Amino acid sequence: MKLLKFISSFILFSASSHVLGAQYLQSADIVGTGFYDAFHFEDKPDPTHGRVTYVNESTAQALNLTYASSDTFILRTDYTTYLQPSDPGRNSVRIVSNLQYTTFAAIFDMRHMPEGCGTWPAVWTVGADWPNQGEVDIVEGVNSMMPNVASVHTGSNCKMPSSGRNMSGVSTGVNCATYETNGAGCGIEFTDTPNDPRSFGPGFNSHSGGWYAFERTNSDFKIWFWSRSDRAVPDEVQYGPRAIDTTTWGEPIGHWTDDLCDFASHFGPHNIVINLALCGDWAGNYYVYKSSGCPDTCEEFVNTNPAALYAAYFDFVSIKIYT
Ligand SMILES: *[C@@H]1O[C@H](CO)[C@@H](O)[C@H](O)[C@H]1NC(C)=O
Ligand SMILES: *[C@@H]1O[C@H](CO)[C@@H](O)[C@H](O)[C@H]1NC(C)=O
Ligand SMILES: *[C@@H]1O[C@H](CO)[C@@H](O)[C@H](O)[C@H]1NC(C)=O
Repeated sequence: MKLLKFISSFILFSASSHVLGAQYLQSADIVGTGFYDAFHFEDKPDPTHGRVTYVNESTAQALNLTYASSDTFILRTDYTTYLQPSDPGRNSVRIVSNLQYTTFAAIFDMRHMPEGCGTWPAVWTVGADWPNQGEVDIVEGVNSMMPNVASVHTGSNCKMPSSGRNMSGVSTGVNCATYETNGAGCGIEFTDTPNDPRSFGPGFNSHSGGWYAFERTNSDFKIWFWSRSDRAVPDEVQYGPRAIDTTTWGEPIGHWTDDLCDFASHFGPHNIVINLALCGDWAGNYYVYKSSGCPDTCEEFVNTNPAALYAAYFDFVSIKIYT
């Protein structure tokens, strides 16, 4: 017994004394009702001017807009109410982690994400003082348009190198300053299998979802994605053991570096946010909405076609946090 105790404390000590950014220990495994303990509900007006009313936890549970079982957490928008133009926005949900994170890794295991015309789902992290403490959009898109585009938003003087970032995704812009890029930031578009996009919306869902992983160190942000159908999912991502080493996960899809951006002054501690907006600044933008092939205007569609939002839900297996 004594020897065993000695060995296990030795292992713990040596693991936590390593300061290599790539090695982490699990600090939370958020599953089912654990989402209610790890997140709070933000029922403020949508800052992106969406056709939504974010509700509080008791209302979300009463309306079944969030639902938890032992192995499931669902977050959705209302899909039954016909709205008049003068009505408040459709009920939906925005949850924010109770804890903040600086250097950490997270694995988001999802079975389903919201899809449909007018939807704007996001899984992201953000500091208290926006945009000066930064924002990282891990999963984001609108109107079921594929693939995923991950983006970083900052205050001024933060750029990314235009080459050499060791990532499989394609940069959509190297200036991360949100006010200098019309809100776009420095995005990275995923390069999904042609004709079988799996990283977002209907393509993600038709493969029973998959795993998004995010790592933040003092000098790098990295995002990986594996579809449920991919053969090459690292065991650490699939099974979420107590200790992980992200250097074994292969090349990321998205990679942001500190070569031309001082991370310390552009990124504060971040909360994790999961929300489902409808229409608003991006999904509801006239040209964006039209180019996605959706009918009517975004608000008309969302007001009068509640049943079309039946598939507008997240289904989480778990979120595992490593620090
Ligand atoms: C939740 O929101 C409902 C509807 O706005 C309100 O009646 C209720 O008091 C709120 N509950 C809490 C705990 O804030
Ligand atoms: C609430 O939502 C869950 C998940 O979609 C579903 O299984 C359950 O039947 C719903 N409950 C009610 C009362 O509608
Ligand atoms: C890219 O990979 C090469 C080879 O592994 C390495 O030398 C280089 O430092 C990497 N660059 C970045 C920005 O991570």
